[in-house]
Amino acid sequence: MSVDDRFAEDFRKGREDRPPGTRSEVVTGPVSDWTTDFSHVEDEWAGDPYPIQDDLRERCPIARTERFGGGWLPTRYEDVAAIAYDTERFSSRAIVMSNFRPPRDLAPIGGSPPISSDPPFHHDARKLLLPAFTKTAVGRMEASTRAYCHALIDGLAGQPTVDAARDYAQYIPMRVIADMLGFPPEDGPQFREFVENTLEGVNLPPEERMARMDRLFDYLLAQIRDHVDNPRDDLTTYLINAELYGNKLQPSHVSGTMALLLIAGIDTTWSAIGASLWHLAKTPADRERLVAEPALLPTAMEEFLRAYAPVTMARLVKDDMHWQGVDMRADDWILLSFPAANRDPAQFDRAGEVVIDREVNRHAAFGLGIHRCVGSHLARMELRVALEVWLERIPEFSLADPGAVTWAAGQVRGPRTLPLRIGPA
Ligand code: HEM
Repeated sequence: MSVDDRFAEDFRKGREDRPPGTRSEVVTGPVSDWTTDFSHVEDEWAGDPYPIQDDLRERCPIARTERFGGGWLPTRYEDVAAIAYDTERFSSRAIVMSNFRPPRDLAPIGGSPPISSDPPFHHDARKLLLPAFTKTAVGRMEASTRAYCHALIDGLAGQPTVDAARDYAQYIPMRVIADMLGFPPEDGPQFREFVENTLEGVNLPPEERMARMDRLFDYLLAQIRDHVDNPRDDLTTYLINAELYGNKLQPSHVSGTMALLLIAGIDTTWSAIGASLWHLAKTPADRERLVAEPALLPTAMEEFLRAYAPVTMARLVKDDMHWQGVDMRADDWILLSFPAANRDPAQFDRAGEVVIDREVNRHAAFGLGIHRCVGSHLARMELRVALEVWLERIPEFSLADPGAVTWAAGQVRGPRTLPLRIGPA
């Protein structure tokens, strides 16, 4: 059997043998009480989750929901950190809270290693990825990223109003990850669909969600075939040839990791760039200061990551237990809100304010513990270059219509429509 056939066979079997897992009812609609019925996919949360999180932290620091088959939402830094570090009692076998729980025997590998993997497998799957994401490797991509940001801004020239989320922020991580994986750059718009299906389609019936995921895996299979026929110096070829324990990676490991990089690489950074531009558009004093003092940007950027942390992850409780005063059941979800942890006044002074020259800022935007973001150097480079180029080329801008800004609902939150007026307000 050729390598190519091996992948196709694995994909076909994966679909036929798809294990039943556990399904729960689709529940949408307004939240009656955030302490007992929270939902991160409702518009109220997407629009402004911080007052809700602050209130919960005061009144009910581990909130409950019966939606998605039941889950918990800790909002204190201390609890979020304790769960992130505790891989004995909380599993990563599913990290997107939805109506479907994959079967237990999917652990410790999960569908998208290493983010879906538990120890001990996690360590080995993660190690494979590290060389591609070191500071030095990322440094080699800075010049092309900067040139691409300039080209995007050239394309916006002459327009009085631009959508900075749609026409700028989203394209930067799409291009970078397409280059790394060796995918055609013009496929970017398809990636957006994959991202939305994975992260924002969580309330769809499981069959519909699976059908959409199949489209992502069909795309990846086509890319893998092309790379098997035409090997080149990129991450896809690297993963196809990589070995663990003396054997080539399982085809499902290769495609699962590719899917992870595509999803984790795009939505997150797109959200971080968009949220930073949104903040600067509505806060002229911060914008003017950064234009006057560009050296402050790396510090300001960490503050944007803290205050507008885009990523919330999920865990599944392994066994029934009493934890911090609540009775958790096996397979309850935990919505692990790094954004809520980042705004805990017990951890940060002036937690609810954006302080662009904050000196000490040990935020959790990239996660905590063994799953801490592998792509953090890359994300920081993209965010810094995107903001540097924008501020250099467009130093004056403001929100064209604050009411028209929309935010992605779900576990990765950032502006999806961000109309900005270019020039003096
Ligand atoms: C501002 C942008 C980003 C943010 C805020 C972010 C955030 C996170 C967080 C919170 C985790 C922890 C997940 C968990 O605990 O379950 C994580 C893991 C991960 N991220 Fe990122 N991420 C960003 C960009 C990227 C990029 C650009 C890539 C690569 C293309 C990437 C690849 C990964 C991978 C592979 C993991 C899994 C690590 C593991 O399980 O060991 N991320 N990220």
